[in-house]
Amino acid sequence: EKQIAIAIDGPAAAGKSTVAKIVAKKLGYIYIDTGAMYRSLTYSVLTNQIDINNADMVIQHLHDIVIDINANQQVLIDQKDVTEAIRTDEVSKNVSAIASIPEVRQEMVKRQQKLAERRAVVMDGRDIGTHVIPDAEVKVFLVASVEERAERRHTENLQKGFSSDLDQIKHDIEKRDKMDSERKVSPLKKAADAAEIDTTSLTIEEVADRILSLANKKM
Ligand code: C5P
Repeated sequence: EKQIAIAIDGPAAAGKSTVAKIVAKKLGYIYIDTGAMYRSLTYSVLTNQIDINNADMVIQHLHDIVIDINANQQVLIDQKDVTEAIRTDEVSKNVSAIASIPEVRQEMVKRQQKLAERRAVVMDGRDIGTHVIPDAEVKVFLVASVEERAERRHTENLQKGFSSDLDQIKHDIEKRDKMDSERKVSPLKKAADAAEIDTTSLTIEEVADRILSLANKKM
């Protein structure tokens, strides 16, 4: 059986990571959450009170810290567990600005390509099919209406016992998608050869099954 790379891209809160984890588990592949890498840098920049508009300082900071994501999807910065801390609204609101710095992307993409070199990976993000693994055997672009995505995130928050404002979530998602789609360097965009899956009326399992059947054809 051939080992392949599966690239999953799409807008915020489209269910990429949930589906990617299921697909990776089924295939015995490694799951790589590239959003967590940009979130980690953003979190560290904010906590160290570095000006997010000062690109040179942000890039320097990226080289000063060690970001590590282990097999259990725990995210560590200099050995400190930040798995939960990188998911706050504060980080979500600032991550697109950090991710739009060309030199930050260059370094992150370099690291991601190294992780995908030996295949047997499922990687999710915004530019995986277009820039990180342009020769991925399977490329998927997940979409869903912003209402649906906001609704899912809202339900998730309430289940976790967090306070949650549906309109605010919708507003934040739209803003992040706009920034990610309009940035100059490797914007959020469906690769020409990616399969688009509209997840609006599909269950998580149905989406995972579609991706697995695309994968099986390439293995
Ligand atoms: O996937 P997630 O929503 O956690 O990603 C957080 C942010 O990181 C995105 O909104 C985007 O700004 C950035 N990102 C990116 N390229 C990727 C993955 C994430 O620019 N491959």
